[in-house]
Amino acid sequence: MYIGFARFSIFLMFLFSWTSFTTTEAYDALDPNGNITIKWDIMSWTPDGYVAVVTIFNFQQYRHIQSPGWQLGWAWRKKEVIWSMVGGQATEQGDCSKFKGNIPHCCKRTPTVVDLLPGTPYNQQISNCCRGGVISSWAQDPATAISSFQISVGQSGTTNKTVRAPRNVTLKAPGPGYTCGPAKNVVPSKFISTDKRRKTQALMTWNITCTYSQFLARKTPTCCVSLSSFYNETIVPCPTCSCGCQNKSQAGTCVDQKIASVVPPSIGKNNLEPLLQCTQHMCPIRVHWHVKTNYKEYWRVKVAITNFNYNMNYTQWNLVAQHPNFDNLTQLFSFNYKPLNPYADINDTAMLWGIKFYNDMLSQAGPLGNVQSELLFRKNPSKFTFDKGWAFPRRIYFNGDNCVMPPPDSYPWLPNATPNLATSPFIVLLITFLSALILM
Ligand SMILES: *[C@@H]1O[C@H](CO)[C@@H](O)[C@H](O)[C@H]1NC(C)=O
Ligand SMILES: *[C@@H]1O[C@H](CO)[C@@H](O)[C@H](O)[C@H]1NC(C)=O
Ligand SMILES: *[C@@H]1O[C@H](CO)[C@@H](O)[C@H](O)[C@H]1NC(C)=O
Ligand SMILES: *[C@@H]1O[C@H](CO)[C@@H](O)[C@H](O)[C@H]1NC(C)=O
Ligand SMILES: *[C@@H]1O[C@H](CO)[C@@H](O)[C@H](O)[C@H]1NC(C)=O
Ligand SMILES: *[C@@H]1O[C@H](CO)[C@@H](O)[C@H](O)[C@H]1NC(C)=O
Ligand SMILES: *[C@@H]1O[C@H](CO)[C@@H](O)[C@H](O)[C@H]1NC(C)=O
Ligand SMILES: *[C@@H]1O[C@H](CO)[C@@H](O)[C@H](O)[C@H]1NC(C)=O
Ligand SMILES: *[C@@H]1O[C@H](CO)[C@@H](O)[C@H](O)[C@H]1NC(C)=O
Repeated sequence: MYIGFARFSIFLMFLFSWTSFTTTEAYDALDPNGNITIKWDIMSWTPDGYVAVVTIFNFQQYRHIQSPGWQLGWAWRKKEVIWSMVGGQATEQGDCSKFKGNIPHCCKRTPTVVDLLPGTPYNQQISNCCRGGVISSWAQDPATAISSFQISVGQSGTTNKTVRAPRNVTLKAPGPGYTCGPAKNVVPSKFISTDKRRKTQALMTWNITCTYSQFLARKTPTCCVSLSSFYNETIVPCPTCSCGCQNKSQAGTCVDQKIASVVPPSIGKNNLEPLLQCTQHMCPIRVHWHVKTNYKEYWRVKVAITNFNYNMNYTQWNLVAQHPNFDNLTQLFSFNYKPLNPYADINDTAMLWGIKFYNDMLSQAGPLGNVQSELLFRKNPSKFTFDKGWAFPRRIYFNGDNCVMPPPDSYPWLPNATPNLATSPFIVLLITFLSALILM
């Protein structure tokens, strides 16, 4: 009955932490200010329009845009055309048949723009362009968390009174997930010259803010968590059907590893449609957290991330983990680390990502499709315990998406666990609270 009660209390704890962020949709508790801001700076007026530099800032701590890159779309308000572009291109020219002589780059009412690829000749580049639409997250590398292109617009207004901001801005990354607000007229941007001795400014600036919702991006989760420990041989797997269920009656929906010959040849570039190895969880990504060793003053965890998707090499992948002992992370092997403290006083969230040219790419499913690391934590005697699943993470995100955790009552337990109710402050509190309720 004691164990049942202790489990119930943990269940309550998790229930609270779980509900507190499944209900929040576009709001991300671990990155409350995260957004992508698109800045549209009008640099000069032309006889029939203007030249603007459009810059995409990824202010999200841990959500990046990986290959095949962003796509930015909008709807013009007047009869605008795009005469030319530098550092980007419209995906379709559209119908320019009424132009003679000079043909615009794009005549569509709703153009879609993509970045140019690396290796674009220098005379077609501007700064922060030409990375194939890949934008890193702010915490990982602020220098490449920006992407720009220059656009020369015609048949628009030619003064700040007659020009109209684009509307219905859509950002695909490259799939759905982002919702963009209207363009706002803001204080014109200032630019500092390379010798830092002169400031120039845009003639006019519009800001557009886009926010992410995992629910809009995909109806199903994309990763799950499995757990194990040195003190119990049980390996707690990802919950069955975490990301989808195997359809046994429909052969070929996933790749059965037992029949090696069906492993598909690589298509050689990332595809948004996953091709999964058959698993009971059907997630593209599994994160395994193993409580490995107990020392006198420290304890050690091994984290392994496995890719089950044959159609995706995850470049610049990242992991966000929440555990109360991250305030005393002492050593970390083969991953980069940065503490995230959205709420200044709680230091329990860590962002982990691969080391450049070593393991910053999580390869497609197969023998190379995994990365791993070990974390060494210093015990805080007043908090540390292997009891009640304390050593396991509270939340895990992979590439900014929340991973499905096993139910707390299935966690590996200490052998002969007889939770000492009297010494657990939480239980004492709960009992006090419950008895107060009963007495009332
Ligand atoms: C976008 O993110 C930046 C950086 O976190 C923040 O300063 C800004 O207020 C955010 N904008 C909106 C509209 O939330
Ligand atoms: C347009 O420019 C004028 C003069 O520079 C300025 O006073 C006015 O506020 C600007 N209007 C807008 C909408 O930016
Ligand atoms: C822009 O969005 C509005 C409201 O969402 C919609 O009514 C309108 O048709 C859209 N315009 C274009 C050109 O897509
Ligand atoms: C507009 O966006 C830029 C770049 O993200 C930012 O520095 C600026 O503060 C924003 N302005 C407003 C009013 O949000
Ligand atoms: C499995 O696939 C069959 C054939 O496409 C379909 O009729 C059935 O609804 C699917 N079952 C599930 C559980 O998705
Ligand atoms: C992933 O990278 C490997 C090695 O660079 C390459 O052989 C493979 O085709 C790539 N797969 C995808 C899906 O891009
Ligand atoms: C959070 O904990 C880490 C690891 O112990 C430490 O490096 C970092 O300085 C701490 N940050 C704050 C704001 O306390
Ligand atoms: C880290 O652990 C040591 C030893 O237990 C403790 O004195 C220190 O306060 C801890 N640091 C933090 C940030 O909790
Ligand atoms: C290991 O943990 C499981 C719960 O996941 C529990 O059922 C089992 O009794 C534990 N084994 C031992 C030896 O305590």
